[in-house]
Amino acid sequence: VINLDSWRYALDFAILNLGSETAWGNLGYWAETKHYPTACRALAHQVGQELQSSDQVLDVGIGAGQQLIEWQQHFGVKSITGIELSPRHFRFAQQRIQHHNIQATLYNINANDITNWHADQFDRVISLDSAYHYRTRQAFFHAANHVLRPDGVLSLADMYLSDDISSWGYQALRAVTPFASIPKDNLMRESDYFNALQQSGFKHIQIRDVTSEVLGGFGEFSNRHWQQYRRQTLLGGWAKILFTGWLCRRNMAWGGVRYGIITAQMT
Ligand SMILES: C[S@@+](CC[C@H](N)C(=O)[O-])C[C@H]1O[C@@H](n2cnc3c(N)ncnc32)[C@H](O)[C@@H]1O
Repeated sequence: VINLDSWRYALDFAILNLGSETAWGNLGYWAETKHYPTACRALAHQVGQELQSSDQVLDVGIGAGQQLIEWQQHFGVKSITGIELSPRHFRFAQQRIQHHNIQATLYNINANDITNWHADQFDRVISLDSAYHYRTRQAFFHAANHVLRPDGVLSLADMYLSDDISSWGYQALRAVTPFASIPKDNLMRESDYFNALQQSGFKHIQIRDVTSEVLGGFGEFSNRHWQQYRRQTLLGGWAKILFTGWLCRRNMAWGGVRYGIITAQMT
C-alpha cells in the first residue's frame, strides 16, 4: 500500500499524481496523451500559450503550485504572483516553489480579494481550472479587469453550460453542484458567460470549446487510474475522483456541461 500520509496536500491531488513526482490538480487536456501529468501540463499550456517574457502574471487558484514552474521555466515570464484559497494547497505550493527555485509571490487569500489591490498591475491574469469555484465568478471578472493593465489579457480554462441545455438539465445541475463546491450563481450558459465578461469591461472575447479533450479525457482516465492503483491505495480520496469521472462520462453523452479555453482583452 502506497503511503499517502506523507503527502501534505489534499488526498485527491495525491491520488491523481500517483506514479509521478508532480502536484497537478486539474482535469487535463487529453488530445495527445493518456498520462495525467502530461495532460495537466498541456491544459496549462493551452491557457498560457501566448505568455511573453515581459509579462507580469497574476495566477488565481494555483493549487499545489505545479503550473508556476511552467510560467517561469517554459515561458520565462517577468514576474509571478499567485493566489490560493486552501491553506493546505497554499503551504504545499510554497514548498514546491522553494524546492524548484521559482521566483513567485504567493498569497493565501480568496480570488475576489484582489478587488482591493492597486489597479493596472498585471499584463495577464490566469485562472487554470478554478474560476467555477469563485463566489462569484462574475465578481472575479470585475476584479480581474481592475488589476489588469489597459493592454492586459484574462485567460481561463473553465466550465460553463451549453446554450441548448434543457431547463430540466439546468435544475438537475443546480441540485448537484453544491457538492462540487460550485456556487449556483456560476451555472452560466455560454452566451451568459460571454455577456458576463463583456459587462465586466472585456473585449475581443474568445471561447474555444475543448469539452471532449478535457471532460472526455478525464472520464476515461479516472477509470484507468482506479484499475491501476486501487489495490495499492486506501479508499479515501477516490470518491471525488470517481464521481467527477462518472459525471464527465455521462456529460459526453448528454452535452449539457461545456469546457472551454477563454481569452478576453482589456481593449
Ligand atoms: C481544480 S483545482 C486546480 C488547481 C491548479 N490550477 C492546477 O491546475 O493544478 C482548483 C483550485 O482552485 C482553488 N480555489 C477554489 N476557490 C478559490 C477561490 N475562491 N480563491 C482562490 N482559489 C480558489 C482550490 O483550492 C483549488 O486549489
